[in-house]
Amino acid sequence: MEIKSYLKEQKLLVEAAFDTFIPAAEGDFDRHIEAMRYSLLAGGKRVRPILCLAAARAVAGDAIDDRDVLPVACALECIHTYSLIHDDLPAMDNDELRRGKATNHVLFGEAAAILAGDGLLTWAFDLLSNPEHGTLSAGKKLAVTHCIARAAGSYGMVGGQALDIATENSTFPFETLQTIHKSKTGALITASVVSGGICGGADPEKLRSLESYGRQIGLAFQIVDDLLNVTATTEQLGKAAGSDAELGKATYPAYFGIEETRKRAKDAVQKAKNSLNDFDRNAEPLRLLADYIYTRSH
Ligand code: IPE
Ligand code: IPE
Ligand code: MG
Ligand code: MG
Repeated sequence: MEIKSYLKEQKLLVEAAFDTFIPAAEGDFDRHIEAMRYSLLAGGKRVRPILCLAAARAVAGDAIDDRDVLPVACALECIHTYSLIHDDLPAMDNDELRRGKATNHVLFGEAAAILAGDGLLTWAFDLLSNPEHGTLSAGKKLAVTHCIARAAGSYGMVGGQALDIATENSTFPFETLQTIHKSKTGALITASVVSGGICGGADPEKLRSLESYGRQIGLAFQIVDDLLNVTATTEQLGKAAGSDAELGKATYPAYFGIEETRKRAKDAVQKAKNSLNDFDRNAEPLRLLADYIYTRSH
């Protein structure tokens, strides 16, 4: 299997599902929904929904119907997109470019951008709990919802973002940096994999392996984000390069230099793949996705 064509095909699958699951910008709230749709449909690699779908198939093979996983996959992308809108706000990283376009607050204003983020976060839980979507059992839906809520909140992404902001322009031990990366980025990536596993009916042992895989690729993902912030251009990234140093963010390259940082990302990816030793060839896409997280250029 070729990763490039796989990613392209899966991205199309996820984006086609948005048409079904995301509200149209009409009616009383049209401008608010337009702001939500603007960021959600601006592009993006769709890594989290793709991981969710791949994890479900790694467990269940063809026995799982994509239509049962897609509401979960789309909910993850809604949460991720909300986190980007808020991350870019002047009070946070103050960025003007995202996914190759003007950031939400630049186009719609700050208040509307905050509300677009709130709308996307809440819509995710509407999707997860809506009995009309898919045929997953109520028990699975509840387990998936709890997994994602925990990862998105104060013990996951939001907590990590709070720590990221609080530690700007300060020195702190490496362990704190690891906590920031594992929570602000790793938690939602881990939940993407684990929630896919739950959809596929993974037993507790398989879920633990998927969780371990998710934690390692989640850490690698943010390490590579730090690396690209130093080594890539704004044009390649579709967001501002060099911004971490300007904002006084602690990053892996700032701690270890480029070469050692690359090595640490590669090690994490290898550990992630090792976690899948007990999985068969249905997990091949997850193995390739782990490699992609290291080799990606944006
Ligand atoms: C960027 O995430 C923010 C981080 C959590 C590192 P992605 O690199 O997945 O961004 P998109 O979705 O492709 O724009
Ligand atoms: C983003 O971290 C993490 C979340 C949005 C949760 P960064 O601030 O490092 O990501 P970019 O570089 O702006 O995408
Ligand atoms: Mg940030
Ligand atoms: Mg940022």
